[in-house]
Amino acid sequence: MAIKPLIAPSILSADFSRLGEQIAEAEQGGADWIHIDVMDGHFVPPISMGQMVTETCRRVTDLPLDVHLMVEQPDEMLQSFAEAGADHIHVHIEASPNIQRSLERIHKLGCKAGLAVNPETSAAAMLPYVQLADIVLVMSVHPGYSGQDFLPEILPKVSELRRAITKSGTSALIEIDGGVHAETLPLALEAGAQVFVAASAVFHHTEGIAAGIQALRNASLEKQKR
Ligand code: DX5
Ligand code: ZN
Repeated sequence: MAIKPLIAPSILSADFSRLGEQIAEAEQGGADWIHIDVMDGHFVPPISMGQMVTETCRRVTDLPLDVHLMVEQPDEMLQSFAEAGADHIHVHIEASPNIQRSLERIHKLGCKAGLAVNPETSAAAMLPYVQLADIVLVMSVHPGYSGQDFLPEILPKVSELRRAITKSGTSALIEIDGGVHAETLPLALEAGAQVFVAASAVFHHTEGIAAGIQALRNASLEKQKR
């Protein structure tokens, strides 16, 4: 049976002066997870948010917190993000000196482990580790900023990963992050993704956060009907 597509609004595009209200609005609007983009100014140029914002999110929602570490030296931060309330922690294969060890440490901390990759990283580089991950996070923009255009060249990689996961008999989810909106979501869904991160399409939707989530939900259901 097909897994229901999951929508994970990224608070990177939220209004931080009203973060609690905006998360509540996303939750009432049907968000499945809350995605937290952690940037350290080294792995990517901006510095965004960290453990304190994760703790704040933990206080205001029971939804799973999906923490995406775009940082150098991720291993040093795993424990503090788990303590701050992360449910899932994604580490970039390009940033970890030993990705297997990072994924194992995340599991030991009681969190789900995510293997994240930049657009230019191949499926072949990921395959040895896919079985160790609960989630595979495929970036569909170059990490660092919201509001960029979806890169369709990542779609064959998603299909290849989906085939490999199905063949291995594991149940890892494929999560797509970057440039996701009602027109691009169906492409990624068709390629084999189940989780869709969206910052600007949710928090900058002209009719509000719930309408942004609904537009994504409708796009995913339309595709599945066909
Ligand atoms: C980019 C982040 C994404 C970003 C997505 O580095 O990992 O999660 O917030 O933003 P949109 O949905 O606007 O492309
Ligand atoms: Zn992200």
